[in-house]
Amino acid sequence: MTQVYTVQIHNRQKATHHVIQVPDDRYVLHSAESQGVELPFACRNGACTTCAVRVLSGKIDQPEAMGLSPKLRDAGYALLCVSYACSDLAVETQDEDEVYELQFGRHFGKGKVRQGLPLDEE
Ligand code: FES
Repeated sequence: MTQVYTVQIHNRQKATHHVIQVPDDRYVLHSAESQGVELPFACRNGACTTCAVRVLSGKIDQPEAMGLSPKLRDAGYALLCVSYACSDLAVETQDEDEVYELQFGRHFGKGKVRQGLPLDEE
């Protein structure tokens, strides 16, 4: 049987606060949109992290959130486009590119990417 949860969403960029009802078999982002709440998104596919939020309270299931490392999931981030509510929730939008920076930002400029070796080098 479908369970319906109450999800509070604080959109920090727009300084808006929303309360929506989310069935446990629907993605949170989709439910928000169908209730007239506009939130950031791009791929809708769990890959780009544009829709990432900080989970302030409650439990979320996001088995398809391939764009989010297990470390960041454990740290309380979620991708709303592929997230199911497992309880009542309170979430807030991330800073712009916050999750992307946490995952990838630090690796740039550290010289970890190897350039291809010249072909004649043995
Ligand atoms: S919109 Fe791209 S990960 Fe959710």
